[in-house]
Amino acid sequence: MLGVRGRVSGRLSVGNVYEAAGGDRTFRLLVERFYARVAGDPLLRPLYPDEDLASATERLTLFLIQYWGGPSTYNERRGHPRLRLRHQPFAIGQAERDAWFGHMTWAVDSLDLAPAVRKALLDYFETASTAMINQPGQR
Ligand code: HEM
Repeated sequence: MLGVRGRVSGRLSVGNVYEAAGGDRTFRLLVERFYARVAGDPLLRPLYPDEDLASATERLTLFLIQYWGGPSTYNERRGHPRLRLRHQPFAIGQAERDAWFGHMTWAVDSLDLAPAVRKALLDYFETASTAMINQPGQR
């Protein structure tokens, strides 16, 4: 069994990050903290269509749990993620991407994770957030 702190060494594969990170509890906390920051961000908040961010929080939480090897509740509720497509309605330029990744980095760092888990999450978020840019010319 891998512990949340200190015990993880070597390479982590996507399949065991969920457990090494501490399971559902960690991802719930991560996304709650992330959206608490989004809620106060004048650049990002207007992109979210819903009045409160509860549903968005639930969707991202379930997606990450599934992505990192936990239960596949996201797919049962939402079908195939197709994230690029689902982000098409929202104008995401470099500035939005940097704000998103900045809040996520802060949220990851708030969790006191083992270094290998922290790195796996941040490497993924860095690449995935860049891939979500759909307004390349916009600052
Ligand atoms: C690059 C900056 C990003 C911005 C500005 C952004 C913005 C948004 C917005 C406005 C929504 C709709 C809110 C809702 O669910 O009702 C959304 C949904 C979502 N985003 Fe992002 N996002 C970004 C990057 C990412 C990344 C990197 C991931 C994955 C790691 C991600 C995962 C999701 C998921 C899973 C949903 C819900 C999809 C669904 O089931 O409908 N987003 N995002």
